[in-house]
Amino acid sequence: MAVSTRVPLLELSGVSKRFGAVQALTEVRFDVFAGEVVALVGDNGAGKSTLIKVISGIHPADAGQFRFEGRDVAIHGPQDSASLGIATVYQDLALCDNLDVVANLYLGREVGGRGPLGRMNETSMEQRSIDVLRRLSVKIPSVRTPVESLSGGQRQSVAVARSVLWKNKVVLLDEPTAALGVAQTHEVLELVKRLRDEGHGVVLISHNLVDVFEVADRITVLRLGRYVGTYSAATVGREQLVALMTGAVPGEAANGEMPAGALPPAPPAWRADSTGPSAGIPGEVGR
Ligand SMILES: Nc1ncnc2c1ncn2[C@@H]1O[C@H](COP(=O)(O)OP(=O)(O)O)[C@@H](O)[C@H]1O
Ligand SMILES: [Mg+2]
Repeated sequence: MAVSTRVPLLELSGVSKRFGAVQALTEVRFDVFAGEVVALVGDNGAGKSTLIKVISGIHPADAGQFRFEGRDVAIHGPQDSASLGIATVYQDLALCDNLDVVANLYLGREVGGRGPLGRMNETSMEQRSIDVLRRLSVKIPSVRTPVESLSGGQRQSVAVARSVLWKNKVVLLDEPTAALGVAQTHEVLELVKRLRDEGHGVVLISHNLVDVFEVADRITVLRLGRYVGTYSAATVGREQLVALMTGAVPGEAANGEMPAGALPPAPPAWRADSTGPSAGIPGEVGR
């Protein structure tokens, strides 16, 4: 596969964001390709949620460059992000408990609304809801079930399904499994894999490294609002990841030499069984 010639779906560089006295992000870069899951990890306060909110236009960046499918774009608000085909599923899901699944999937875009779906009727909304949930293997009793009677995993799955009902290309998930038990977490992670297999670029925030290693292709580490590095999930080790998250070892970005977007040098091979001071830190993943 000619990976080096591929263009990321979404690519950010030099992204900074300040909230009053708090510099939440400092010159962060990030990218995600179609058909991959990139996990965004870091300690509390590392800036993960802020980065997602910058991408989704909720908190527009103070500075930074954004490219979507290779084109320079601007994200000044949620509408800019949505129109690029970027969907976000937040930690506190915005579902309406008293409404059924169909109504939640179509929230804000119901019959009579503006746009191409304006004349869509209830029957076709229901059928399309059934279709998308089947396609994503989301199992719920009925699309006419009020979401309040669904399990946490089913609710999260409905929220994720909603994000891809509208032909979005990038899906941002902020801690989608935080409130879920083991079985429900598995359900949602399977859904994340299906989104990837359908060709979406999926960005997953999780503090649970087991989840991260279960689904991620690449892992981007943030620390104290700064970019630490991006690592292949297949080669980075859990302990190394923790060391990068806590700052016990410096990341690739620490040398300060590499311009944003440049190809990193060939990474040292890191082996899980290596010991002693010669054990390299995991290298950044090339493109
Ligand atoms: N709306 C906000 N107003 C002020 N400070 C904020 C706001 N959102 C986040 N922050 C601050 O920005 C930093 C990064 O937070 P956040 O992005 O939520 O980190 P993470 O999701 O990695 O835990 C923290 O110091 C946090 O307190
Ligand atoms: Mg957060």
